[in-house]
Amino acid sequence: MGIDLKGRHFLTLLDYTPQEIRFLLDLAARLKALKKAGTPHRYLTGKNVALLFEKTSTRTRCAFEVAGMDLGMGVTFLDPGSSQMGKKESIPDTARVLGRMYDGIEYRGFSQQIVEELAQYAGVPVWNGLTDQFHPTQMLADLLTIEEKLGRLAGVKFTYMGDARNNMGNSLMIACAKMGLHFTACAPQALFPAQELVDKARAIAQATGGSVRLTSDVSQGVTGADVLYTDIWVSMGEPDEIWEKRIALLKPYQVNRRAMEMAGEQAIFMHCLPSFHDLKTTIAQDIYRKFGLTEMEVADQVFESPQSVVFDEAENRMHTIKAVMLATLAHPQAYQG
Ligand code: CP
Ligand code: NVA
Repeated sequence: MGIDLKGRHFLTLLDYTPQEIRFLLDLAARLKALKKAGTPHRYLTGKNVALLFEKTSTRTRCAFEVAGMDLGMGVTFLDPGSSQMGKKESIPDTARVLGRMYDGIEYRGFSQQIVEELAQYAGVPVWNGLTDQFHPTQMLADLLTIEEKLGRLAGVKFTYMGDARNNMGNSLMIACAKMGLHFTACAPQALFPAQELVDKARAIAQATGGSVRLTSDVSQGVTGADVLYTDIWVSMGEPDEIWEKRIALLKPYQVNRRAMEMAGEQAIFMHCLPSFHDLKTTIAQDIYRKFGLTEMEVADQVFESPQSVVFDEAENRMHTIKAVMLATLAHPQAYQG
C-alpha cells in the first residue's frame, strides 16, 4: 500500500517513519519544481487554515502563508495578542472552535503539551510550527537542503554545535537518526540533550544505519563533518538574564573559520535562522554593549561564505511546509499522477 498521510498531525518527527519522511521530502521537491516552473498547484482550493503564533516568527509564518495560498487555501494569522487562547479560553475549547471552521491548524508556542492538546481536541490536522521541545517543519527543510547540496542523507556526518537540548538540538538528533545520518552534538555537557531522548534517537539510528554521539571536544566534534549546524544561544521564551551564562558556556562552540577548516572543504554551514552573526540587530547591539561580542554562534565570515547554505535552507521551509499541509489535508490521488 502507498503512503497516505491524510488526517495525520505533524507534531514531532518521532511520530513519522523514515518512509513517511521520505514521502514528504519527495513531495516537497516536486512542489518546489512546480513552483519554479510557474505551474499552478492549487490542490486545496476551498480549504482554510489557521496559524496560531504565541511566539514571533518570520520564516515559519511566511512559509505557511505562501504555501497555503499557493495551494489555493484561505489563511488566517492569529498573533499572541489577537486571540482569546490561554487568557480567556482554554486550549481544548480553542481547538474545538477552530476545528469547526478550519481544515488545519498551525501552532507555534511554548510547551509541546499545548500542541498535543490542540491536536487531541481539534478534529483536524495540527502542525507544530515550533515549541520549546521540537521544531519538526524546520527538520524537513534541513533534510531537503542537505540532500540537494550533498546528494544524499544516509551516511552524512552532521555536527550540531551549541545548545543541544533546545528545540533544534532535540529535533535534529531525531531527524538525523530517522534518515540514517551520523549525528554529533558538540556542546558543553550542561547543554546535552536529555538522556531519555538520546536513548530514543540511538534506538532509531540502530535501525537506519545512523549514529548518535555527544562530545564536548570541538576538534573531535567537527573534524571531517559534512554539515556544521548551529542555532542562537538563547531561545525564545528564555529569560534575558541567561545570556551571560550561555555566552560563557557556548563561546568555545562558535562556528568560525577554524571550525570550518577542521571540518573540511566539503562541509556546508547551516542555521535555522535568525542568526546573530553581526551587529545589525538590536539584540546583537545590546549583547555587544554588555559583553563585547561582535558575533555569536557563527562568525560573519562563515555565515557569508560560499559554504553557507542558510538562504536555500530558509526557502525550503516554504516547499516542505507546503508538502506537510498537502499530504495531511488530501489523499495522494488528489495530488499525484
Ligand atoms: N527558523 C525559523 O523557524 O524562523 P522563524 O522564527 O522566523 O519562523
Ligand atoms: N532555538 C530557537 C529556534 C528559532 C527558529 C528558538 O526557539 O528561539
